Amino acid sequence: MAAPISQRPGRTAIKSVSSPEVGSRAPDFVLSGPNRNIRLSDFRGQTVILAFAAPGWDPALGTQMALFNTLARQIEPAGAQLLGIGLESPWCNLDLVGEATVRFPLLHDFDPAGGIAQRYGVSGNRALFVVDAAGIVRAKWILQTGLLPTPRMLDEVWRSLSRPLSVGGPALTRRQFLLGSLAISAALALSPLPAAAAEGTSRRLSDASEIRTLVLNVNGVDHQLEVDSRVTLLDALREYIGLTGTKKGCDQGTCGACTVLADGRRIKSCLTLALMREGQRITTIEGLAASGRLHPLQAAFISHDALQCGYCTPGQIISALALIDEGHARSDGEIREWMSGNLCRCGCYPNIVDAIHEVAAGSKP
Ligand code: FES
Ligand code: FES
Repeated sequence: MAAPISQRPGRTAIKSVSSPEVGSRAPDFVLSGPNRNIRLSDFRGQTVILAFAAPGWDPALGTQMALFNTLARQIEPAGAQLLGIGLESPWCNLDLVGEATVRFPLLHDFDPAGGIAQRYGVSGNRALFVVDAAGIVRAKWILQTGLLPTPRMLDEVWRSLSRPLSVGGPALTRRQFLLGSLAISAALALSPLPAAAAEGTSRRLSDASEIRTLVLNVNGVDHQLEVDSRVTLLDALREYIGLTGTKKGCDQGTCGACTVLADGRRIKSCLTLALMREGQRITTIEGLAASGRLHPLQAAFISHDALQCGYCTPGQIISALALIDEGHARSDGEIREWMSGNLCRCGCYPNIVDAIHEVAAGSKP
């Protein structure tokens, strides 16, 4: 067995080597994870997907994290493990909730910086390696900055994943295969350097796109849609179904204007693909008022003057609905904390807290 790559302090000279070929042994390594050191060879008997992030990749922005989380969830039932490897400090400082909670080990390729990426021949690029239960590279996918995955790349990676993923373990189902393919495609398609990637992107995006038919249940009504596989839930709601109450602010997971409920849990609809939400119950601001009467939270926002321009308000109200349900409205401090993912550029925070507090306490708006 090849010796692990040493991460001893002071050892900084790493020779650049060519990337391990498909069919060869994956170089072993030891890196520090969130709570422990992780050695690749510890996962013998399991399939491992190594996901290398390019410099500048910021998982705290959310979109990338949501997609990688999706991938981690999909391969988990088949006994496979996703390991993220990156250089950025947010990888070790994430303290996020909901869709952004890290569901797989994030490894810090710090000592020396980028040493593992160099050993795998992927320095500065996004890459995925599929390493089988015996430690052999079964597929690899390296993307230069600004390039997007092609259907051929997807096929190559997923041919290896559609076989049983671990010794004696189950193979992915057809549905997992399709969704995982989408998640991998989308995750690697995200450019860490949007400006650099912009040139020529449309043509490459069209190469990777695929039209899918799906049924989205929104506010109790089924909508059959034909959408590009990369359409976000937010765009599906606004552009395809015509429910424009859900707002697009940052489109990056930071402002909360796009918050909706999926099976009762609040999510940022700009961070999830429409395809991934098929089969769930989506609730938007349009679904709250019943029989011509405002929902108590809507009425409380009005009576407490908890809005100025109103752009953030649908996201605030949906988030508040979930927050009360979660039991996180026991004090003003708690409300502020658990509403911190919803920004208001008009600064209506005190009034928003008052409105939520009133409804949570059960008083009439
Ligand atoms: Fe989705 Fe800002 S968080 S639009
Ligand atoms: Fe204007 Fe919140 S009311 S952004």
